[in-house]
Amino acid sequence: MKIGKVKFPGNILLAPMSNVTNLPFRFLCREYGASMTYSEMISSDAVIYENVKTFRRGRSYDNEKPFGIQIFGNSPRVISEAALKIEGTYHPDIIDLNCGCPAKLLTKDGFGAALLESPELIHSIVEKLSETVSIPVTAKIRVLEDMEKTLKIAQLIENAGACALTVHGRTRQQQYSGRSDMEYAKRIKEEISIPVIVNGDIVDEASAEYALEYTGCDGIMIGRAAMGNPFLFKRISHYLHTGGMLEYDECMQRVIDIRRYFSLMEEHGLMHTINMRAHAQWFTRGIRNGRHIRNNIAEAQNTDEIILRIEEMCGHTS
Ligand SMILES: Cc1cc2nc3c(=O)[nH]c(=O)nc-3n(C[C@H](O)[C@H](O)[C@H](O)COP(=O)(O)O)c2cc1C
Repeated sequence: MKIGKVKFPGNILLAPMSNVTNLPFRFLCREYGASMTYSEMISSDAVIYENVKTFRRGRSYDNEKPFGIQIFGNSPRVISEAALKIEGTYHPDIIDLNCGCPAKLLTKDGFGAALLESPELIHSIVEKLSETVSIPVTAKIRVLEDMEKTLKIAQLIENAGACALTVHGRTRQQQYSGRSDMEYAKRIKEEISIPVIVNGDIVDEASAEYALEYTGCDGIMIGRAAMGNPFLFKRISHYLHTGGMLEYDECMQRVIDIRRYFSLMEEHGLMHTINMRAHAQWFTRGIRNGRHIRNNIAEAQNTDEIILRIEEMCGHTS
């Protein structure tokens, strides 16, 4: 796949997810075949006003290429200045504009999905960003109930100079309920000529194949289904390449992955930034005895204990 001048193998992207897609998690996803990874969203105000903690979300690991940093805000000037600072500090390959987050914390200030109410402002932001940074600019949107208005926003984003567009087929009002409507990504793909990435409810081999075939999009982006399950990228890329399902031991795989995840978190000095039990819970979703394991994890005192409890419940020790 190619986004502006950035070329990369494959077309399965990891979605930006706040408090999820930290550096170690992205490392694992990439190792299992994610073609492209994004940082958690970063506030443009925080970058400009030197909020070091938030700004550090832009760090990537060596060889994390291509790597995108997602930014949010609503001032073309502030966003562009912040992007320039990010470009100079972290050297990402792509800057992505968040036009999709429905959280009140953002929308009350006119950020994230609230931008969809002001298509001309989105145009100004993307235009100014594209003029300011030397790397490709992309945008990630939710949809509006009105298809024509959504298509108009996609066209404005393309005309403003964006090099790709990701479409999550839910409205801001839906939050995460209902289903993601892939019709929007399909219509947008027909309408604009930059690469379009379809996002929303891609959870396994079949839904990945369907999303690509139905929408004709250039790539797929996976969010929640990858939480605690970075191996999903290997399953899906194996299936898309060979048509066959990967044979593996789900429980054992999760044990391997959580062990590596915690170890990488420690190595990067990030353990204090997460709720370790919450993150551990994600690694037990969808496996045998999952609920029982989650109850056990709730009482664990440290990462070794968490891993031990999962191993015991899975019937493995390694
Ligand atoms: C915990 C969480 C955090 C998220 N944070 C972001 C974010 O920082 N930026 C963004 O554009 N979308 C964010 N999203 C939305 C996802 O990127 C994605 O669009 C959405 O989850 C739909 O895809 P999925 O069905 O594959 O999960 C977040 C979603 C979740 C569940």
